[in-house]
Amino acid sequence: MKTILILGGYGQTGRLLAHYLLDETECRLILAGRRPERGAALAAALNAQAGQERVTTAAADAADLDGLAHTLAGVDLALIASSTATHGETVARAALAAGCDYLDIQYAAAKVAMLQRLAPEIERAGRCFITDGGFHPGLPAALVRYAAARFDRLERANVGSVIAIDWAALDLGPETKVEFVAEFMDFDSRVFRDGRWQKLGLMSMAKPLTFDFGPPFGRRACIAMTLGEMDALPECIPSLRETGFYVGGFNWVSDWFVSPLVMVGLKLAPRRLLSPLARLQFWSMARFARPPYGTVLQLAATGQRDGAPHTMTLRLTHDDAYALTAIPVVACVRQWLAGPRRPGLWFQGQYAEPEALLGDMARMGVAITTEESGQPSRMRPRPAL
Ligand SMILES: NC(=O)c1ccc[n+]([C@@H]2O[C@H](COP(=O)([O-])OP(=O)(O)OC[C@H]3O[C@@H](n4cnc5c(N)ncnc54)[C@H](OP(=O)(O)O)[C@@H]3O)[C@@H](O)[C@H]2O)c1
Repeated sequence: MKTILILGGYGQTGRLLAHYLLDETECRLILAGRRPERGAALAAALNAQAGQERVTTAAADAADLDGLAHTLAGVDLALIASSTATHGETVARAALAAGCDYLDIQYAAAKVAMLQRLAPEIERAGRCFITDGGFHPGLPAALVRYAAARFDRLERANVGSVIAIDWAALDLGPETKVEFVAEFMDFDSRVFRDGRWQKLGLMSMAKPLTFDFGPPFGRRACIAMTLGEMDALPECIPSLRETGFYVGGFNWVSDWFVSPLVMVGLKLAPRRLLSPLARLQFWSMARFARPPYGTVLQLAATGQRDGAPHTMTLRLTHDDAYALTAIPVVACVRQWLAGPRRPGLWFQGQYAEPEALLGDMARMGVAITTEESGQPSRMRPRPAL
């Protein structure tokens, strides 16, 4: 039986990862963090859910290389669901030292660059490291790869998202808020258009792409956001002329006033202003959030099939953004467990086999609908085996 340690195992995402992993795998789980006593009640509840002792807790700090490597001894997979991107290298090196595989769910450009530098070492060690897991990052490239198999010639494939969360109802750690806002410093909007990668910069805000997400969200303007997992798509799908990932905003106050202010503030004094600006950003997101709440990820694709124009809309919906983060990770972990072993550094959106990923996600409660050249259908859940 394999053992998975979830760093951040009792956080918002970590607890859902634990819940679905317990249902979907036979693995033993360790919920780890700096205050493991916070995970004790959750571990007890999960063991009661499983009807056996499969979940324990452990103390682990992402900033402590030796301590973390010690805690990871005997673990098969380190699942990094903590807001610890700033300690990314320490965590990755601890996993290498302990000889375990690795999967993280953070969105942080510096973390990806660090892992790319470590890639030769990861390969030499024969380890499998999966980065940018979750929903976004994590799914957009997999959706484009799913579509490519249904076209003779896929030409245009854009992915948009809406995340409507009742932020006031969440109890996020201060590090999580700071990590989220710190990414504003590196915000980048690279898309592939007319057969080449282009940086849209402020153009992205002036000319957003509109997606029709259906009820209850309807048509929403979304701005481009760089995701590393998309980079390899034009090479894998040579017919592709346009692809990119786009995000909808939070609410009009955060989008038009607070986020621009936060970006300017971070340019002026990143170190001094990061914490107060993170508090301001999350205050505005919580104060002005309005229902309906829920999350949608949608692919809009066009191209050719059987000598005729073909279109495809693929829509993934869940009421809970955190569940939509945890479910694809667990579906990916199922593929990692099933093998064959694939050593090296991967993006989740490139590692996962899309058809099985989506089928498993449908079984775990994500509503997945497709419409191909006007023909609607709903994805059938894949049997659990
Ligand atoms: N890819 C996606 O789609 C996606 C979606 C949502 C969230 N995320 C990412 O998931 C991560 C967690 O987000 P969340 O909302 O679940 O956060 P959260 O609820 O605030 O939980 C954070 C967890 O990390 C632990 N932690 C913080 N610092 C740590 C350290 N130095 N060492 C060990 N553990 C530490 C915390 O426990 P202690 O404080 O007790 O240590 C807590 O369990 C973030 O990086 C976020 O960006 C990704």
